[in-house]
Amino acid sequence: MCGIVGYLGDGNAYNVLIGGLHRLEYRGYDSAGIALVDKKGKLNVYKTMGKVSVLENFCKDKNVDSHIGIAHTRWATHGEPSDCNAHPHYSEDGNLALVHNGTIENYKVLKDALVEHGCTFHSETDTEVLVQLIEYVRLQNDCSLLDAVREALKQVIGAYAIAVIEKNNPDCIIAARKSSPLVVGVGDDEFYLASDASPFVEFTDNVVYLKEEEIALIRRHEPLKLYSLDNKENEIDVKKLEMSISQLEKGGYPHFMLKEIFEQPATLLDCIRGRVVDHGRIVTLNGVSDNRDTFINARRIVIVACGTSWHSALIGKYLIQDMCHIPVEVEYASEFRYSHPVLTPDDIVIAISQSGETADTLAAIKIARKMGAFVYGISNVVGSSIPRETHSGTYIHVGPEIGVASTKAFTGQVMVLTLLAMTIGELKKTLSPEDVAKLGNWILKLPSLVEKVLSLAPEIERLSLIYTYARNFLYLGRGYSYPVALEGALKLKEISYIHAEGYPAAEMKHGPIALIDAEMPSVIIAPKDHLYEKIVSNVQQVKARGGSIIAVVTEGDETIRNIADHVLEVPDVPECLTPIITSVPLQLLSYYIAINKGKDVDMPRNLAKSVTVE
Ligand code: G6P
Repeated sequence: MCGIVGYLGDGNAYNVLIGGLHRLEYRGYDSAGIALVDKKGKLNVYKTMGKVSVLENFCKDKNVDSHIGIAHTRWATHGEPSDCNAHPHYSEDGNLALVHNGTIENYKVLKDALVEHGCTFHSETDTEVLVQLIEYVRLQNDCSLLDAVREALKQVIGAYAIAVIEKNNPDCIIAARKSSPLVVGVGDDEFYLASDASPFVEFTDNVVYLKEEEIALIRRHEPLKLYSLDNKENEIDVKKLEMSISQLEKGGYPHFMLKEIFEQPATLLDCIRGRVVDHGRIVTLNGVSDNRDTFINARRIVIVACGTSWHSALIGKYLIQDMCHIPVEVEYASEFRYSHPVLTPDDIVIAISQSGETADTLAAIKIARKMGAFVYGISNVVGSSIPRETHSGTYIHVGPEIGVASTKAFTGQVMVLTLLAMTIGELKKTLSPEDVAKLGNWILKLPSLVEKVLSLAPEIERLSLIYTYARNFLYLGRGYSYPVALEGALKLKEISYIHAEGYPAAEMKHGPIALIDAEMPSVIIAPKDHLYEKIVSNVQQVKARGGSIIAVVTEGDETIRNIADHVLEVPDVPECLTPIITSVPLQLLSYYIAINKGKDVDMPRNLAKSVTVE
């Protein structure tokens, strides 16, 4: 949510910043802006509503000569998307420019006090309050920018990742974070700064992740310094980045989303590598086996997540209850945190988050830790906040997911949850070694089976033309296919803006069935599992009311083929593996419908990939 980039060195700051903003656009794309100090010491701030390409055009005839700069791509919180509300914001005297990701909760109080001291404001943002506050503190105390930032941040309640530059000292960037991510790239006598490492992956692989309430002093030709808010110097832990430039490019696909859908055979392979070995006979997640007793003795597991990750959490519930006989509850992290949760030390809380930065999920983790629960994280982004806040966990290792609508991260999460359930099941002896070996062997075959599902793409593309102009969709499934239905509906909503509801198929008769007519297509996920006969009845109920049906079925299913309008056949797999197989055609269906409607699938309106605000 909002992307920040910064550069200080001998190179061309503008090029680094614009390139970096493009990489961070997944975090928000309401407006973009850049602040640079030129050789004559002039602070130039350029900002425009819209995407980074609009800013780039705007800057074509501008003075962008600089070796230092900060830049921002915005997902609006305070104030509508507009040129004026775009970042960077600057102090009234034009000395400081600042970019910010997060929300300053007490901005109103701070603003009122600054107005009393004579400050005037031009935007509706909380960020302008912060930059004016820092400059006010600096002038009042006649102190350095570092001291002013530290003192100002002590007055702030809320979340922030910020970068500040000063016209009168163009050899220094001050950056700080609380609850929003920030990472410094340490190059050869130059520094990069960004919300994640993607903007500078081609320049350096030495990275320093800022910690909570840490301030970075970045100076030209000087070593990086880190301080706590109470002004103690912190140690610097330089990590090696494991990300390649090719992972950040479209690789010949028209969209990141399509690339990521088609990457799934490879990402699933990466996800299981080293975890399913010896022809499937050995399945281990180290994070689980290293905490053997905790998992064996768990009284209950609570899974917290948001969005797509919440759907994989629901699948996790079925997997863990089936294989480990441990009761599982699944909660939206945003509800959990305010629900006066009751946890005990023999509860395990699993937090699932692709980005590892979702504010509500992070908050839920903090509560769970405070209450003494063991907290396990499932995340994709190495070095992100959630893996650092949890006791143990697993990376899904599917590579950077850039399309805002999650696809390969979803299947990666479900895969990890499957391995987690199998590892616990074997430890608890609720699964026999034979059960594990049988399923492990199927898991090894899964990447090639997903490859087979992807060959349905041309058929799904043709099918999508029939349904492009439908105004509503119903997605139905039972058991493991119920969360798949929710996820299918979410994908369609997110990128095509068609209203879609996911429902447990049996619940349909308690309400949604009233909606069914010739105008309301239903997507029914109906693989041959132990609920197959039941879902066949649901298919018939929809047909009897004149609804059209797209059914995702197991290969060779003649029964549903004879009732449904269209069937998409997927390979037969054990029931607990069906979500990975059946979700892929739904990803493709929503992709092609959105494309037919001319929508921007990688950057759907109003959404952002990483939601670091409440
Ligand atoms: C946003 C994204 C979704 C994602 C959700 C949770 O809404 O657009 O795709 O599922 O956040 O994100 P997380 O990173 O915690 O999985």
